[in-house]
Amino acid sequence: MQMKKRTSVIVILLCALLLISLAACAGSGSAGKTSGPTESTAGRETEPEPKQTEPESEPGETTEPASAPHEPTASDSTVLVVYFSRTGEQYTVGVIDKGNTAIVAEMIAEQTGADLFEVIPADDHYPMTYDELTDVAKREQNEKARPAYAGSLPDLSQYDTVFIGSPVWWGDWPMIMYTFFENNGEALAGKTLIPFSTHEGSGLSGFDKKLASACPNSTVGEGLAIRGNDCQNNQDSVRESITNWLSGLG
Ligand SMILES: Cc1cc2nc3c(=O)[nH]c(=O)nc-3n(C[C@H](O)[C@H](O)[C@H](O)COP(=O)(O)O)c2cc1C
Repeated sequence: MQMKKRTSVIVILLCALLLISLAACAGSGSAGKTSGPTESTAGRETEPEPKQTEPESEPGETTEPASAPHEPTASDSTVLVVYFSRTGEQYTVGVIDKGNTAIVAEMIAEQTGADLFEVIPADDHYPMTYDELTDVAKREQNEKARPAYAGSLPDLSQYDTVFIGSPVWWGDWPMIMYTFFENNGEALAGKTLIPFSTHEGSGLSGFDKKLASACPNSTVGEGLAIRGNDCQNNQDSVRESITNWLSGLG
């Protein structure tokens, strides 16, 4: 009998303990409810966020991290203007401090957003007086000389279109321009080359055909010829001719 009593006390105690611990669990659950997410958001807290499965870029495309440094380049232009031009004494205009072709080249660059590269002789052996210059130029032409030019050309791979201009010398491109064509024929392959000249009566002087044979793997566009005298004395009309020509090129 004594034994039976003791067992029932133990059972009662155990039940009491069980009830206390159940009550404690229920209490901790309700505490979260008052300060935690509301009914409507509670479910979402435990559900996993949908995974971002769509790629942010197409396969093969490279995406730069926002913080990656941007490689500095000379420009983002795809158009380049290459030109040769002389200051000093020139036919019909006297002594000039900016060459006629340089003026046209700058106007083309201004209107197209192109980069500029001037072909400058490596050793400046061209005289500043007109008569002497014509002698040197004639001799170079007779000798099919290939005078070197100074400076380093920008990386041609970034350009699709290259305007190329110079004065007409003895009915032809100055020989230094053939140096340029021959040095860069490969790099100019597949590009559109558009010739322009300044002159005092010879017009384009076959610059387009001569350029096409010097750079057979390039496409040669329609050229433009401008009077040298107009470059110094009639710039509005030169600018207008350039605008019309460019719009015709498309
Ligand atoms: C050496 C030399 C040869 C020239 N030969 C010709 C020519 O054959 N036909 C022509 O119309 N003009 C000729 N000119 C004139 C130039 O083409 C013209 O003055 C040109 O605008 C000069 O350009 P620049 O100032 O950019 O050097 C010649 C000029 C020089 C200096």
